[in-house]
Amino acid sequence: MSDIDTLYSHISAAIAAAATEAALEEVRIAALGKKGSISELMKTLGSMSPDERQAMGPALNGLKTRVTEEIATRKLVLQEKALEEKLARERVDVTLPLRPAPADEGRVHPVSQVIDELTAIFADMGFAVAEGPDIETDELNFTALNFPEGHPARDMHDTFFFNPKENGERLLLRTHTSPVQIRTMRSQTPPIRVIIPGRTYRCDSDQTHTPMFHQVEGLVIDKGSHLGHLKWILEEFCKAFFEVDDIKMRFRPSFFPFTEPSMEVDIQCDRSGAEVKFGEGSDWMEILGCGMVHPNVIRNCGLDPDEYQGFAWGMGIDRIAMLKYGMPDLRAFFDADVRWLKHYGFRPLDLPTLFGGLSS
Ligand code: DAH
Repeated sequence: MSDIDTLYSHISAAIAAAATEAALEEVRIAALGKKGSISELMKTLGSMSPDERQAMGPALNGLKTRVTEEIATRKLVLQEKALEEKLARERVDVTLPLRPAPADEGRVHPVSQVIDELTAIFADMGFAVAEGPDIETDELNFTALNFPEGHPARDMHDTFFFNPKENGERLLLRTHTSPVQIRTMRSQTPPIRVIIPGRTYRCDSDQTHTPMFHQVEGLVIDKGSHLGHLKWILEEFCKAFFEVDDIKMRFRPSFFPFTEPSMEVDIQCDRSGAEVKFGEGSDWMEILGCGMVHPNVIRNCGLDPDEYQGFAWGMGIDRIAMLKYGMPDLRAFFDADVRWLKHYGFRPLDLPTLFGGLSS
């Protein structure tokens, strides 16, 4: 085999073995670059005799052409291979499911839903929403609401007290939303028409009681407001909230220090099936306390009870949520279990409105 043939088979083998375009480029430079093996051979042509040159010239040119062609062919193969690998690496699987939108995944807690529902109902009757702090003074939670010092009604509330301050004053976690009645009457001038939804606290825990729970308070103060108004408001509320056309209510005499007279309200229901139904049946269920605001309370807020009178009511939000949506255990409300929330929660964009339907 001549030197040219040997060189060719070396280069050709190297071309075939080049696995990447960069490796092939190295082979090309080693053969055809300025100092490449073929280029070096070409340089020797000048010092040859004419006869030798006539024989070697075409042979070297042929070698150069073949090597150039082989490199070009190999380059195409390698380019195609690289492209295919890239496509395989960067492939997008369009059959993969989309990540769910937050609005489809998130759920509104039933307590928030019920607060939105009752706010919509009372807003339609012209009520504003008022708020107060969870940490309250003894004065606002009890004294101003006509609970005498040492009165047993204070003990009934199972209050969480903070340690006394140096001056002896004891803050507490409010046991009801009623102190916001005082805050409202002291900061606004009548006519007053507010509802007060919020968190309340009592040291109590079982299937229907949790240490933190929610109440909504209602307060109307004006010159001529009377029990007939209260009865109409509560009836309209119950019909709208439980989404029934008619509902019978029963007002029973009761006692609260801050109202006189005081009443508890039961609504008609049917407990014969698995679920409690409202607006039918012959059973009764207690849902709220109410009454005419006691003259002492009105006086404690700097108003004249001979000029102003009004009524108030207080209702457990968690309890009416349990009744309306058939949730058996109150403690689950506050377990923060997403499976529970997924089952009982509400879709965030289905806002409760009276025209669109509260719960549909
Ligand atoms: N604050 C009372 C409670 O937690 C509920 C209540 C009763 C509120 C009668 C009122 C009312 O405004 O008039 O037991």
